[in-house]
Amino acid sequence: MTEVPQPPHRRRAHTSTRDLERYAGLFAERTTVMRSSAMRDLMAVTARPEVISLAGGLPDTSTFPPQSFAAQMTRIAQESAAAALQYGPTEGFDETKDCIVEVMAGEGMLPDPDDIVVTTGGQQAIDLVTKTLVDPGDVVICEAPTYPGAVPVFCSYQADVRQVEMDGEGMRIDLLEALLDELKAEGRRPKFVYTVPSFQNPGGVTLSLERRARLVELAQLHELLVVEDNPYGMLRYGGEALPTLYQLDGGDFVVYLGTFSKILSPGIRLGWVVAPPPVLEKVVLGKGATDLCTSTLTQFFVRQYFAEGGWRRYVADLVELYRGRRDTMLAALTEHFPAAATWTEPEGGLFIWATLPGYIDTGDLLAKALRNDVAFVPGQAAYVDGRGKSSMRLNFSGVTDEEIREGIVRIGRVISEQVELYKALAPSEDAPESSVDEGPAEEATSNVVPLRKEAGA
Ligand SMILES: Cc1ncc(COP(=O)(O)O)c(C=O)c1O
Repeated sequence: MTEVPQPPHRRRAHTSTRDLERYAGLFAERTTVMRSSAMRDLMAVTARPEVISLAGGLPDTSTFPPQSFAAQMTRIAQESAAAALQYGPTEGFDETKDCIVEVMAGEGMLPDPDDIVVTTGGQQAIDLVTKTLVDPGDVVICEAPTYPGAVPVFCSYQADVRQVEMDGEGMRIDLLEALLDELKAEGRRPKFVYTVPSFQNPGGVTLSLERRARLVELAQLHELLVVEDNPYGMLRYGGEALPTLYQLDGGDFVVYLGTFSKILSPGIRLGWVVAPPPVLEKVVLGKGATDLCTSTLTQFFVRQYFAEGGWRRYVADLVELYRGRRDTMLAALTEHFPAAATWTEPEGGLFIWATLPGYIDTGDLLAKALRNDVAFVPGQAAYVDGRGKSSMRLNFSGVTDEEIREGIVRIGRVISEQVELYKALAPSEDAPESSVDEGPAEEATSNVVPLRKEAGA
């Protein structure tokens, strides 16, 4: 028998300095500004079973009944194996779009199915919209803090990212207006405003009705595209439902991004873009170049699952579950975080944003937390300019009540150590705690996103 020759160096470790030097001359300019996603990096560390991860944005997929999953997949195999294993249209199947229309109708929207393209998750939707609209140096406006997963996208396309601060009512539209005026005076037209208006990731805050109306008004006035990313709108645990920007605008200036990740499963990688036809056409071209089409198999799964008719009940169950976990986390924060910390009280979604005294760097704190087998996302991941150093994003959906309590106890402990250390090193009569905190300690339980500016920022 002839021996099959083995390729040389099969198990060679890669990315040594020498390797990097060898390839450096080949890299595209954009790779110099590419960033990794903080959440992705953390997933590697938090994969250790002993780590309680409050870092992910994971929905609790253990709640999805395995029998139902098995039944859908079996049926697909029996009835449509060949089609489900085949390529599909780049813009997605009509049947998937029907499911999307049903989901959007659940939030009061009535999109034309022809305005929809099915994407490989909401993440690809952000990527494709940016790919379609942004040349290097173009201005993209987003919230401060913004979705940490959007930062690497905007950076990859070499956007000039401007972040507009938020408060308890979401993005400060007055500051946005000032920025738009400033840009106009410079002769620059921003390509789009990216916003997560409902239960923002990472801030946990929701854009008020008044600000929604004003944002849409501004979009129409300035012919400005607003990219509304709404993965969490259906996960509301309290308060009144608000119209989406898409609903208020009717789809002329608002490009809408959705996903099945948080209401069904992120593993199926199904999201969507709703955009005016000229924009959509380019998005579809961009998508074809990227992946030809979104998974046919998972589109069949969604079609099958929606035909069963139980998706709303499942979302209602998730709402019940996550409401309880949010409350558990809020109670644990009150009990175990120092008085100088503040945090948001989200009415929905998956995240709480906590801000610590200004002398604590949550990047350093994370290293200490990991030694105590607990993780969170340091706030800096949600900014392009180094801000957010004293903040952290905490997730409550992918962990049990017990893990939430224990996780917050552990983080609270490492914070207290830092506070004690700081007091020991800087015990000044002239510098009472409130003046060194830099954070609005008196607002500890109010629904605010306290965002400190770095000196000179
Ligand atoms: C605001 C926002 N947009 C998009 C995504 C991407 O989700 P997916 O690609 O799973 O749809 C997430 C995930 O956490 C998110 O929070």
